[in-house]
Amino acid sequence: MKKLEVFGANKLRGQIKISGSKNASLPILAATLLSNKKVFLTNLPKVNDIETMLLVLKSLGSFVKRYKDQLIIDNYNQKKKFASYNLVKTMRAGILVLGPLLAKLGEAKVSLPGGCAIGTRPIDIHLKALSKLGVKYKIIQGYVYAKAPNGLVGAKIKFSKISVGATENLIIAACFAKGITILSNCAIEPEICDLVNFLKKMGCNLKWISKRSIKIQGVEKTNEVTYNVMADRIEAGTYLIAGALTGGNLKIKGIEPKIIKTEIKILKKIGVKIKEKKNEINILETKKIKNINIKTAPYPGFPTDLQAQIMVLLCKANKKSFIKEEIFENRFMHVAELNRMGAKISIKGNKAIVEGKIKFAAAELMATDLRASVSLILAALSANGKSVINRIYHLDRGYENIEKKLKKVGANIRRVN
Ligand code: UD1
Repeated sequence: MKKLEVFGANKLRGQIKISGSKNASLPILAATLLSNKKVFLTNLPKVNDIETMLLVLKSLGSFVKRYKDQLIIDNYNQKKKFASYNLVKTMRAGILVLGPLLAKLGEAKVSLPGGCAIGTRPIDIHLKALSKLGVKYKIIQGYVYAKAPNGLVGAKIKFSKISVGATENLIIAACFAKGITILSNCAIEPEICDLVNFLKKMGCNLKWISKRSIKIQGVEKTNEVTYNVMADRIEAGTYLIAGALTGGNLKIKGIEPKIIKTEIKILKKIGVKIKEKKNEINILETKKIKNINIKTAPYPGFPTDLQAQIMVLLCKANKKSFIKEEIFENRFMHVAELNRMGAKISIKGNKAIVEGKIKFAAAELMATDLRASVSLILAALSANGKSVINRIYHLDRGYENIEKKLKKVGANIRRVN
């Protein structure tokens, strides 16, 4: 099994170009199922979750072709309604095909995504909302069998809790529902706005009517569309933290600072020196990190997907910090490994108490999930000596060319068998 070897502790200097957003690409790919015209997508990241979603689409009958830097999806002959466990088990976003299949074909059998390292991750909110659009479903042997005998019919739906995936599934489904759907208490992550922009460009009729409410007027067909996926704000945040942690000077290119303004504000507050330009964020040599208390929250709050990374940085703060994880119940898997590197982090329920002034020691480590893996790389980048990170398949799900990007800015990192 492949591993990463990281030799710390070099200051990172230079430019890093941010890839397309994984979490925006996944729902957009699922939404292409609505169409029977060609869809041309650019800026999809080259990561394994995207490959998995393309396998799901192909298994459903989509025709997928790459031409230069474009991905062309043609669903003129897409008629299959079955997404198997083997494909959906590795990636929870597989459940996003449920909404479009029901909307277009009136029927679907999709595997339940199951739990994962960071929590149980149910889909009750997706199912409850779909049933309000007229869907009848049963869960049998790990599969959702769903039907819309009279087609989907628009409705007023208020989500009981903010969910990114449920908001996406329902937005996509409602585009083909008869009449008007109003969804409220929606997640408003930038990736959801990107999905909405894509759907609009494809000919769907959607309009935000308040901060967390969207009005969708059903349509019957879509247009051919070309769309450029937004940049990955979590990848950008990860490299900003890498720059701050190593006391380097990094230019993070291809991301609009305004989509990560909460993260930038927090980084500035703890002493990270940052300059913002239109499509670039510059991290300047940072010498001192101050402690802070933060909690993760739905956008525009601090993202749970950057919690592990900022925890590594806070290990360097002058004093104790507190991090409250409000989104997932079990998202502190990285803590045990960071403590093996010399961190002093204790967990009380959903709170992590992070002692400052830590000098990380290199170690052999085990990655447990996508963001946990990258937090171990960050800690290893700032530790003297050689660290080895095992189970990096988690990392390959969501970070494009991470070793290449880090090497280019001076990190000593390599992939070994
Ligand atoms: C998405 C992101 C993930 C990010 C998360 C929160 C993608 C592909 N993944 O995941 O990277 O960490 O948003 O920002 O975009 N929940 C329920 N019932 C449901 C659905 C969700 O109880 O039906 C709970 C979840 O267990 C979790 C919380 O709601 O505790 C938020 O989950 P959700 O926003 O749905 O996350 P995902 O869409 O799975």
